[in-house]
Amino acid sequence: MNYQLSEEHLMIQKAARDFAQAELLPGVIERDTHMTFATEQIKKLGELGFMGMMVDPEFGGGGMDTISYVLAMKEFSKVDNSCSVAVSVNNSLVCWGLDTYGNEEQKRKYLVDLASGKKLGAFCLSEPEAGSDATQQRTTAEDMGDYYLLNGTKNWITNGGNSDTYLVIAHTHPEKGHKGINALIVEKGMEGFVIGAKEDKLGIRGSDTHTLLFNDVKVPKANRIGEDGFGFKFAMKTLDGGRIGIAAQALGIAAGAYELALAYSKERTTFGKPIHNHQAIQFKLADMATQIEAAQHLVMKAAWLKDQGQNYSTAAAMAKLYASEVAMNTTVEAVQIHGGYGFVKEYHVERLMRDAKITQIYEGTSEIQRLVIARGVLRD
Ligand code: CAA
Repeated sequence: MNYQLSEEHLMIQKAARDFAQAELLPGVIERDTHMTFATEQIKKLGELGFMGMMVDPEFGGGGMDTISYVLAMKEFSKVDNSCSVAVSVNNSLVCWGLDTYGNEEQKRKYLVDLASGKKLGAFCLSEPEAGSDATQQRTTAEDMGDYYLLNGTKNWITNGGNSDTYLVIAHTHPEKGHKGINALIVEKGMEGFVIGAKEDKLGIRGSDTHTLLFNDVKVPKANRIGEDGFGFKFAMKTLDGGRIGIAAQALGIAAGAYELALAYSKERTTFGKPIHNHQAIQFKLADMATQIEAAQHLVMKAAWLKDQGQNYSTAAAMAKLYASEVAMNTTVEAVQIHGGYGFVKEYHVERLMRDAKITQIYEGTSEIQRLVIARGVLRD
């Protein structure tokens, strides 16, 4: 395993870090408070090539590797996770899915605009009764000859209101179980497609999470991704890569909170000395630094395996499981190190603590990651 960073990687990392400081940090508290989507920032990220990083340049993407994507996600996530989750879903669920499994026509029609950041995408799998158990899709895509008739409800959809293109997972042949599921490309504005309520959330409050309703939406057959019945595998394969993005987000949250706590520990004085001179604080900082280092290795390994064309399903689940636990632990400790200041918005760590929680839930809960890992290690 070799994931030594190249000159290009370092440049991407710096560009992402500069963007986070210059464009995401100002206004991040206000966007979180008022649940405001980072429309302008996402537009600029598209112009800079961060919305379709791994897509073939022929289809509007950056042609970069997964390591580059992880580096960028980490930097954005140190500062603004409402924005970074939009970046992650567009890159690794929507663009990667279309780039890898879409046909030429679908790529020309949808991927080019998504990868170049002109449009935004959403991945619609979760339902009121199908979160962890993703085979239990109630949304139906009835085969009507040259189109599918789509009916159902999707929940907790990231980028739900601001997207233009939606990848929707639905059952066409319920009697075939997971082999009867399809993935369809749905456009905003198709008749019968209604964007429902926006969620008021604990964390990532600026991200745009909605319920979506499909009432007799006619989706052309040409919008089905892959063969009839490929939808579940499409979702699983896409989520494997998505988990690397969320693991990188969790890593960024942990690193962001740690950097703030470290800086604060050098400024704040108690009992006549800066608090980093107290062993109680040193132990916390040591644990945080060690856990972040370990998480970083797991995330980079998963990205490296993906770039090498090797199986990364287990590695991605391990990275997400561990990095999300580190994000939670580290942010709680960062608030503790800040004392009373940590509890107020101005110091940023309380937001990172709230944001950390979702990394243990979306793109598969920690329990689902353990399931995936157990299957992987038992198989090998
Ligand atoms: N790659 C390819 N194929 C896979 C796969 C993978 N990673 N995982 C499973 N499959 C295939 C299996 O090989 C099997 O195919 P065959 O029958 O042909 O052999 C088929 O899929 C069914 O597999 P299982 O029997 O293992 O399925 P299961 O129902 O027992 O468990 C699961 C699967 C891992 C629990 C899955 O349901 C899962 O990942 N659930 C969590 C869903 C999830 O992550 N949701 C997040 C929503 S998206 C989101 O959060 C985005 C956002 O907004 C940020």
